[in-house]
Amino acid sequence: MKAFVATGGPDHSVRRTDVAQPELRPDEVLVKVDAYSVNRGETFQLERPRAAWRPGKDVAGLVVQAAADGSGPPVGRRVVAHPPSAGWAEYAAVPSGQLACLSEEVATIEAAALPLAGLTALRLLRAAGSVAGRRILLTGASGGVGHYFVELAAAAGASVTAVSSSAERGAGLARLGAAAVTRRVEDAEGPFDLVLESTGGENLPTALAKLRPRGLLIWFGQASRRRVELDFFSLLAGPVSATIRHFSYADSDGPDAPDLQTLVRLVAEGRLHPEIGSVADWGRTPDVLDDLRARRIRGNAVLTIS
Ligand SMILES: NC(=O)c1ccc[n+]([C@@H]2O[C@H](COP(=O)([O-])OP(=O)(O)OC[C@H]3O[C@@H](n4cnc5c(N)ncnc54)[C@H](OP(=O)(O)O)[C@@H]3O)[C@@H](O)[C@H]2O)c1
Repeated sequence: MKAFVATGGPDHSVRRTDVAQPELRPDEVLVKVDAYSVNRGETFQLERPRAAWRPGKDVAGLVVQAAADGSGPPVGRRVVAHPPSAGWAEYAAVPSGQLACLSEEVATIEAAALPLAGLTALRLLRAAGSVAGRRILLTGASGGVGHYFVELAAAAGASVTAVSSSAERGAGLARLGAAAVTRRVEDAEGPFDLVLESTGGENLPTALAKLRPRGLLIWFGQASRRRVELDFFSLLAGPVSATIRHFSYADSDGPDAPDLQTLVRLVAEGRLHPEIGSVADWGRTPDVLDDLRARRIRGNAVLTIS
C-alpha cells in the first residue's frame, strides 16, 4: 500500500512510498482511509522523526477488517479514528478504543478534522471548569483547536476573546460565538478569568498580565517555537496568586472513543461546526504542511484519498 513517511531531511517533510500493509493486533481494526487531517504538532514531530514512525493521527474511512477479539465495529462501518500514528496512508490499524462510528449526518471530510483538535478543545474546556459567565482569552485561536474551543465555550456561556494575527483567518471565530476577535494579544481587553495560551514567546507574559487576581492560565502549546520568559515580580502588578497550568490532551483516563463519539454527536446535532480551511488530494500533503507552517490555513486542513 501507499503511505507517507518522513523524509528525515532538512525539509522536515514527507514523501509517499510503498509500505507493508499493517499487521493487526487482536484489538485493532483495519480502516481504509478516505480522508485525514494534518496537525501542527505533527509538523513538530517531523522535525525529529523517530525510526519506523509514520505520521497520521486523524483519519476517517471504512472498517475493512474487524478486530479479532470482537471489540470495535464490524466491517463496513464508517468511522473516525485517532490512531497513535501511521494514518497518512491508504490503510491504518486502529485500536478499537480509538474510534467512533459516524452517523450519516457527518461527512467524512468533517470527521477527519475532528480527532486531535476536537479532543484537545473538549478537554481544554473540562480543564477550564465551569465557564458560564467567565471571560476567557484564547491565543492562537484561528487554528483547528481554537475554532472548536470557541464554539464549545461560547455555547457553555463563556465570553471568549480570540486572538488571530489575520483578519481573514479570524473571520469565522465571531460567527462561532467569540465575543471579540483581536489581531494582537496586547489589544485584548482584560481582565480575564482564564487565559488559554498556545503561541509562546512574548504572547504568554502579555496574556498573563491580563489575568485577574487568582486567575488561571492554561499553557498548551508554543506555535511560535519561541521560548517564554516570565518575570515573577510582574505578577504583583495584576494577576496576584495566578495559577499557571500545563495541559496535555493525552493526559486522559481511558481510551479516546467516548470523547470522539461526543464530538461526532455534536456535529450531527449541528452544535459543532468543523472549520475546514483546506481540502486537497493527499498527493498535496507536503504543500499543505508548508501552508500549515506558514499560517495560511484557517481551522483544519484535510487530505482526501480517492
Ligand atoms: N497540549 C496539547 O495537548 C495540544 C494538543 C493539540 C494542539 N496543541 C497545540 O495547540 C496549538 C493549536 O493547535 P492547532 O492544531 O489548532 O494549530 P494550528 O491549526 O496550526 O493553529 C495555530 C495557531 O497559532 C497561531 N500561530 C501560528 N504560528 C504562530 C506564531 N509564530 N506566533 C504566534 N501565533 C502563531 C496561528 O494564529 P494566526 O492566525 O495568528 O496565524 C494559529 O491560530 C498549537 O500550538 C499546538 O501545538 C497542544
